[in-house]
Amino acid sequence: MKNLLSTARRLLLAAVLGGTALAAPAFAAGEEVTMYKDPNCGCCGKWAEHMRSHGFSVKEIATPRMGEVKREAGVPQALGSCHTAKVGGYIVEGHVPAADVKRMLADKPKIVGISAPGMPQGSPGMEGPFPPDRYEVVSFDREGRRAVFASH
Ligand code: CU
Ligand code: CU
Repeated sequence: MKNLLSTARRLLLAAVLGGTALAAPAFAAGEEVTMYKDPNCGCCGKWAEHMRSHGFSVKEIATPRMGEVKREAGVPQALGSCHTAKVGGYIVEGHVPAADVKRMLADKPKIVGISAPGMPQGSPGMEGPFPPDRYEVVSFDREGRRAVFASH
């Protein structure tokens, strides 16, 4: 009897956990991220993991032609980073936190995208033994306008 009860409890737990597992990707349904990265870049994959852990589904495409990808995406040279991602009609350049991407997708500003220029220490995918940098996420549009989107 005791065994039967614990089995029932385990089944119930599995059902509850299964429910949460199903609920999580529901957010990601419209949130497919396509990330272009250099084949030799390791931190890009870590950013992809960060995005996945925040409910996005990320497709990784390795290409040696990152310069072309960035030019076509309209990323200003000064705002360049390692990887370039497309999500919801926007461009996300570099190690931008998932929360900023979600805010952009929710607010739908008239911009091309946002970037965390360079490779700031401590940004998502750039965690390490060094003290984190202060850095800004910058928006850019077709007319060359830039603005601070978030400060970290
Ligand atoms: Cu990087
Ligand atoms: Cu990268």
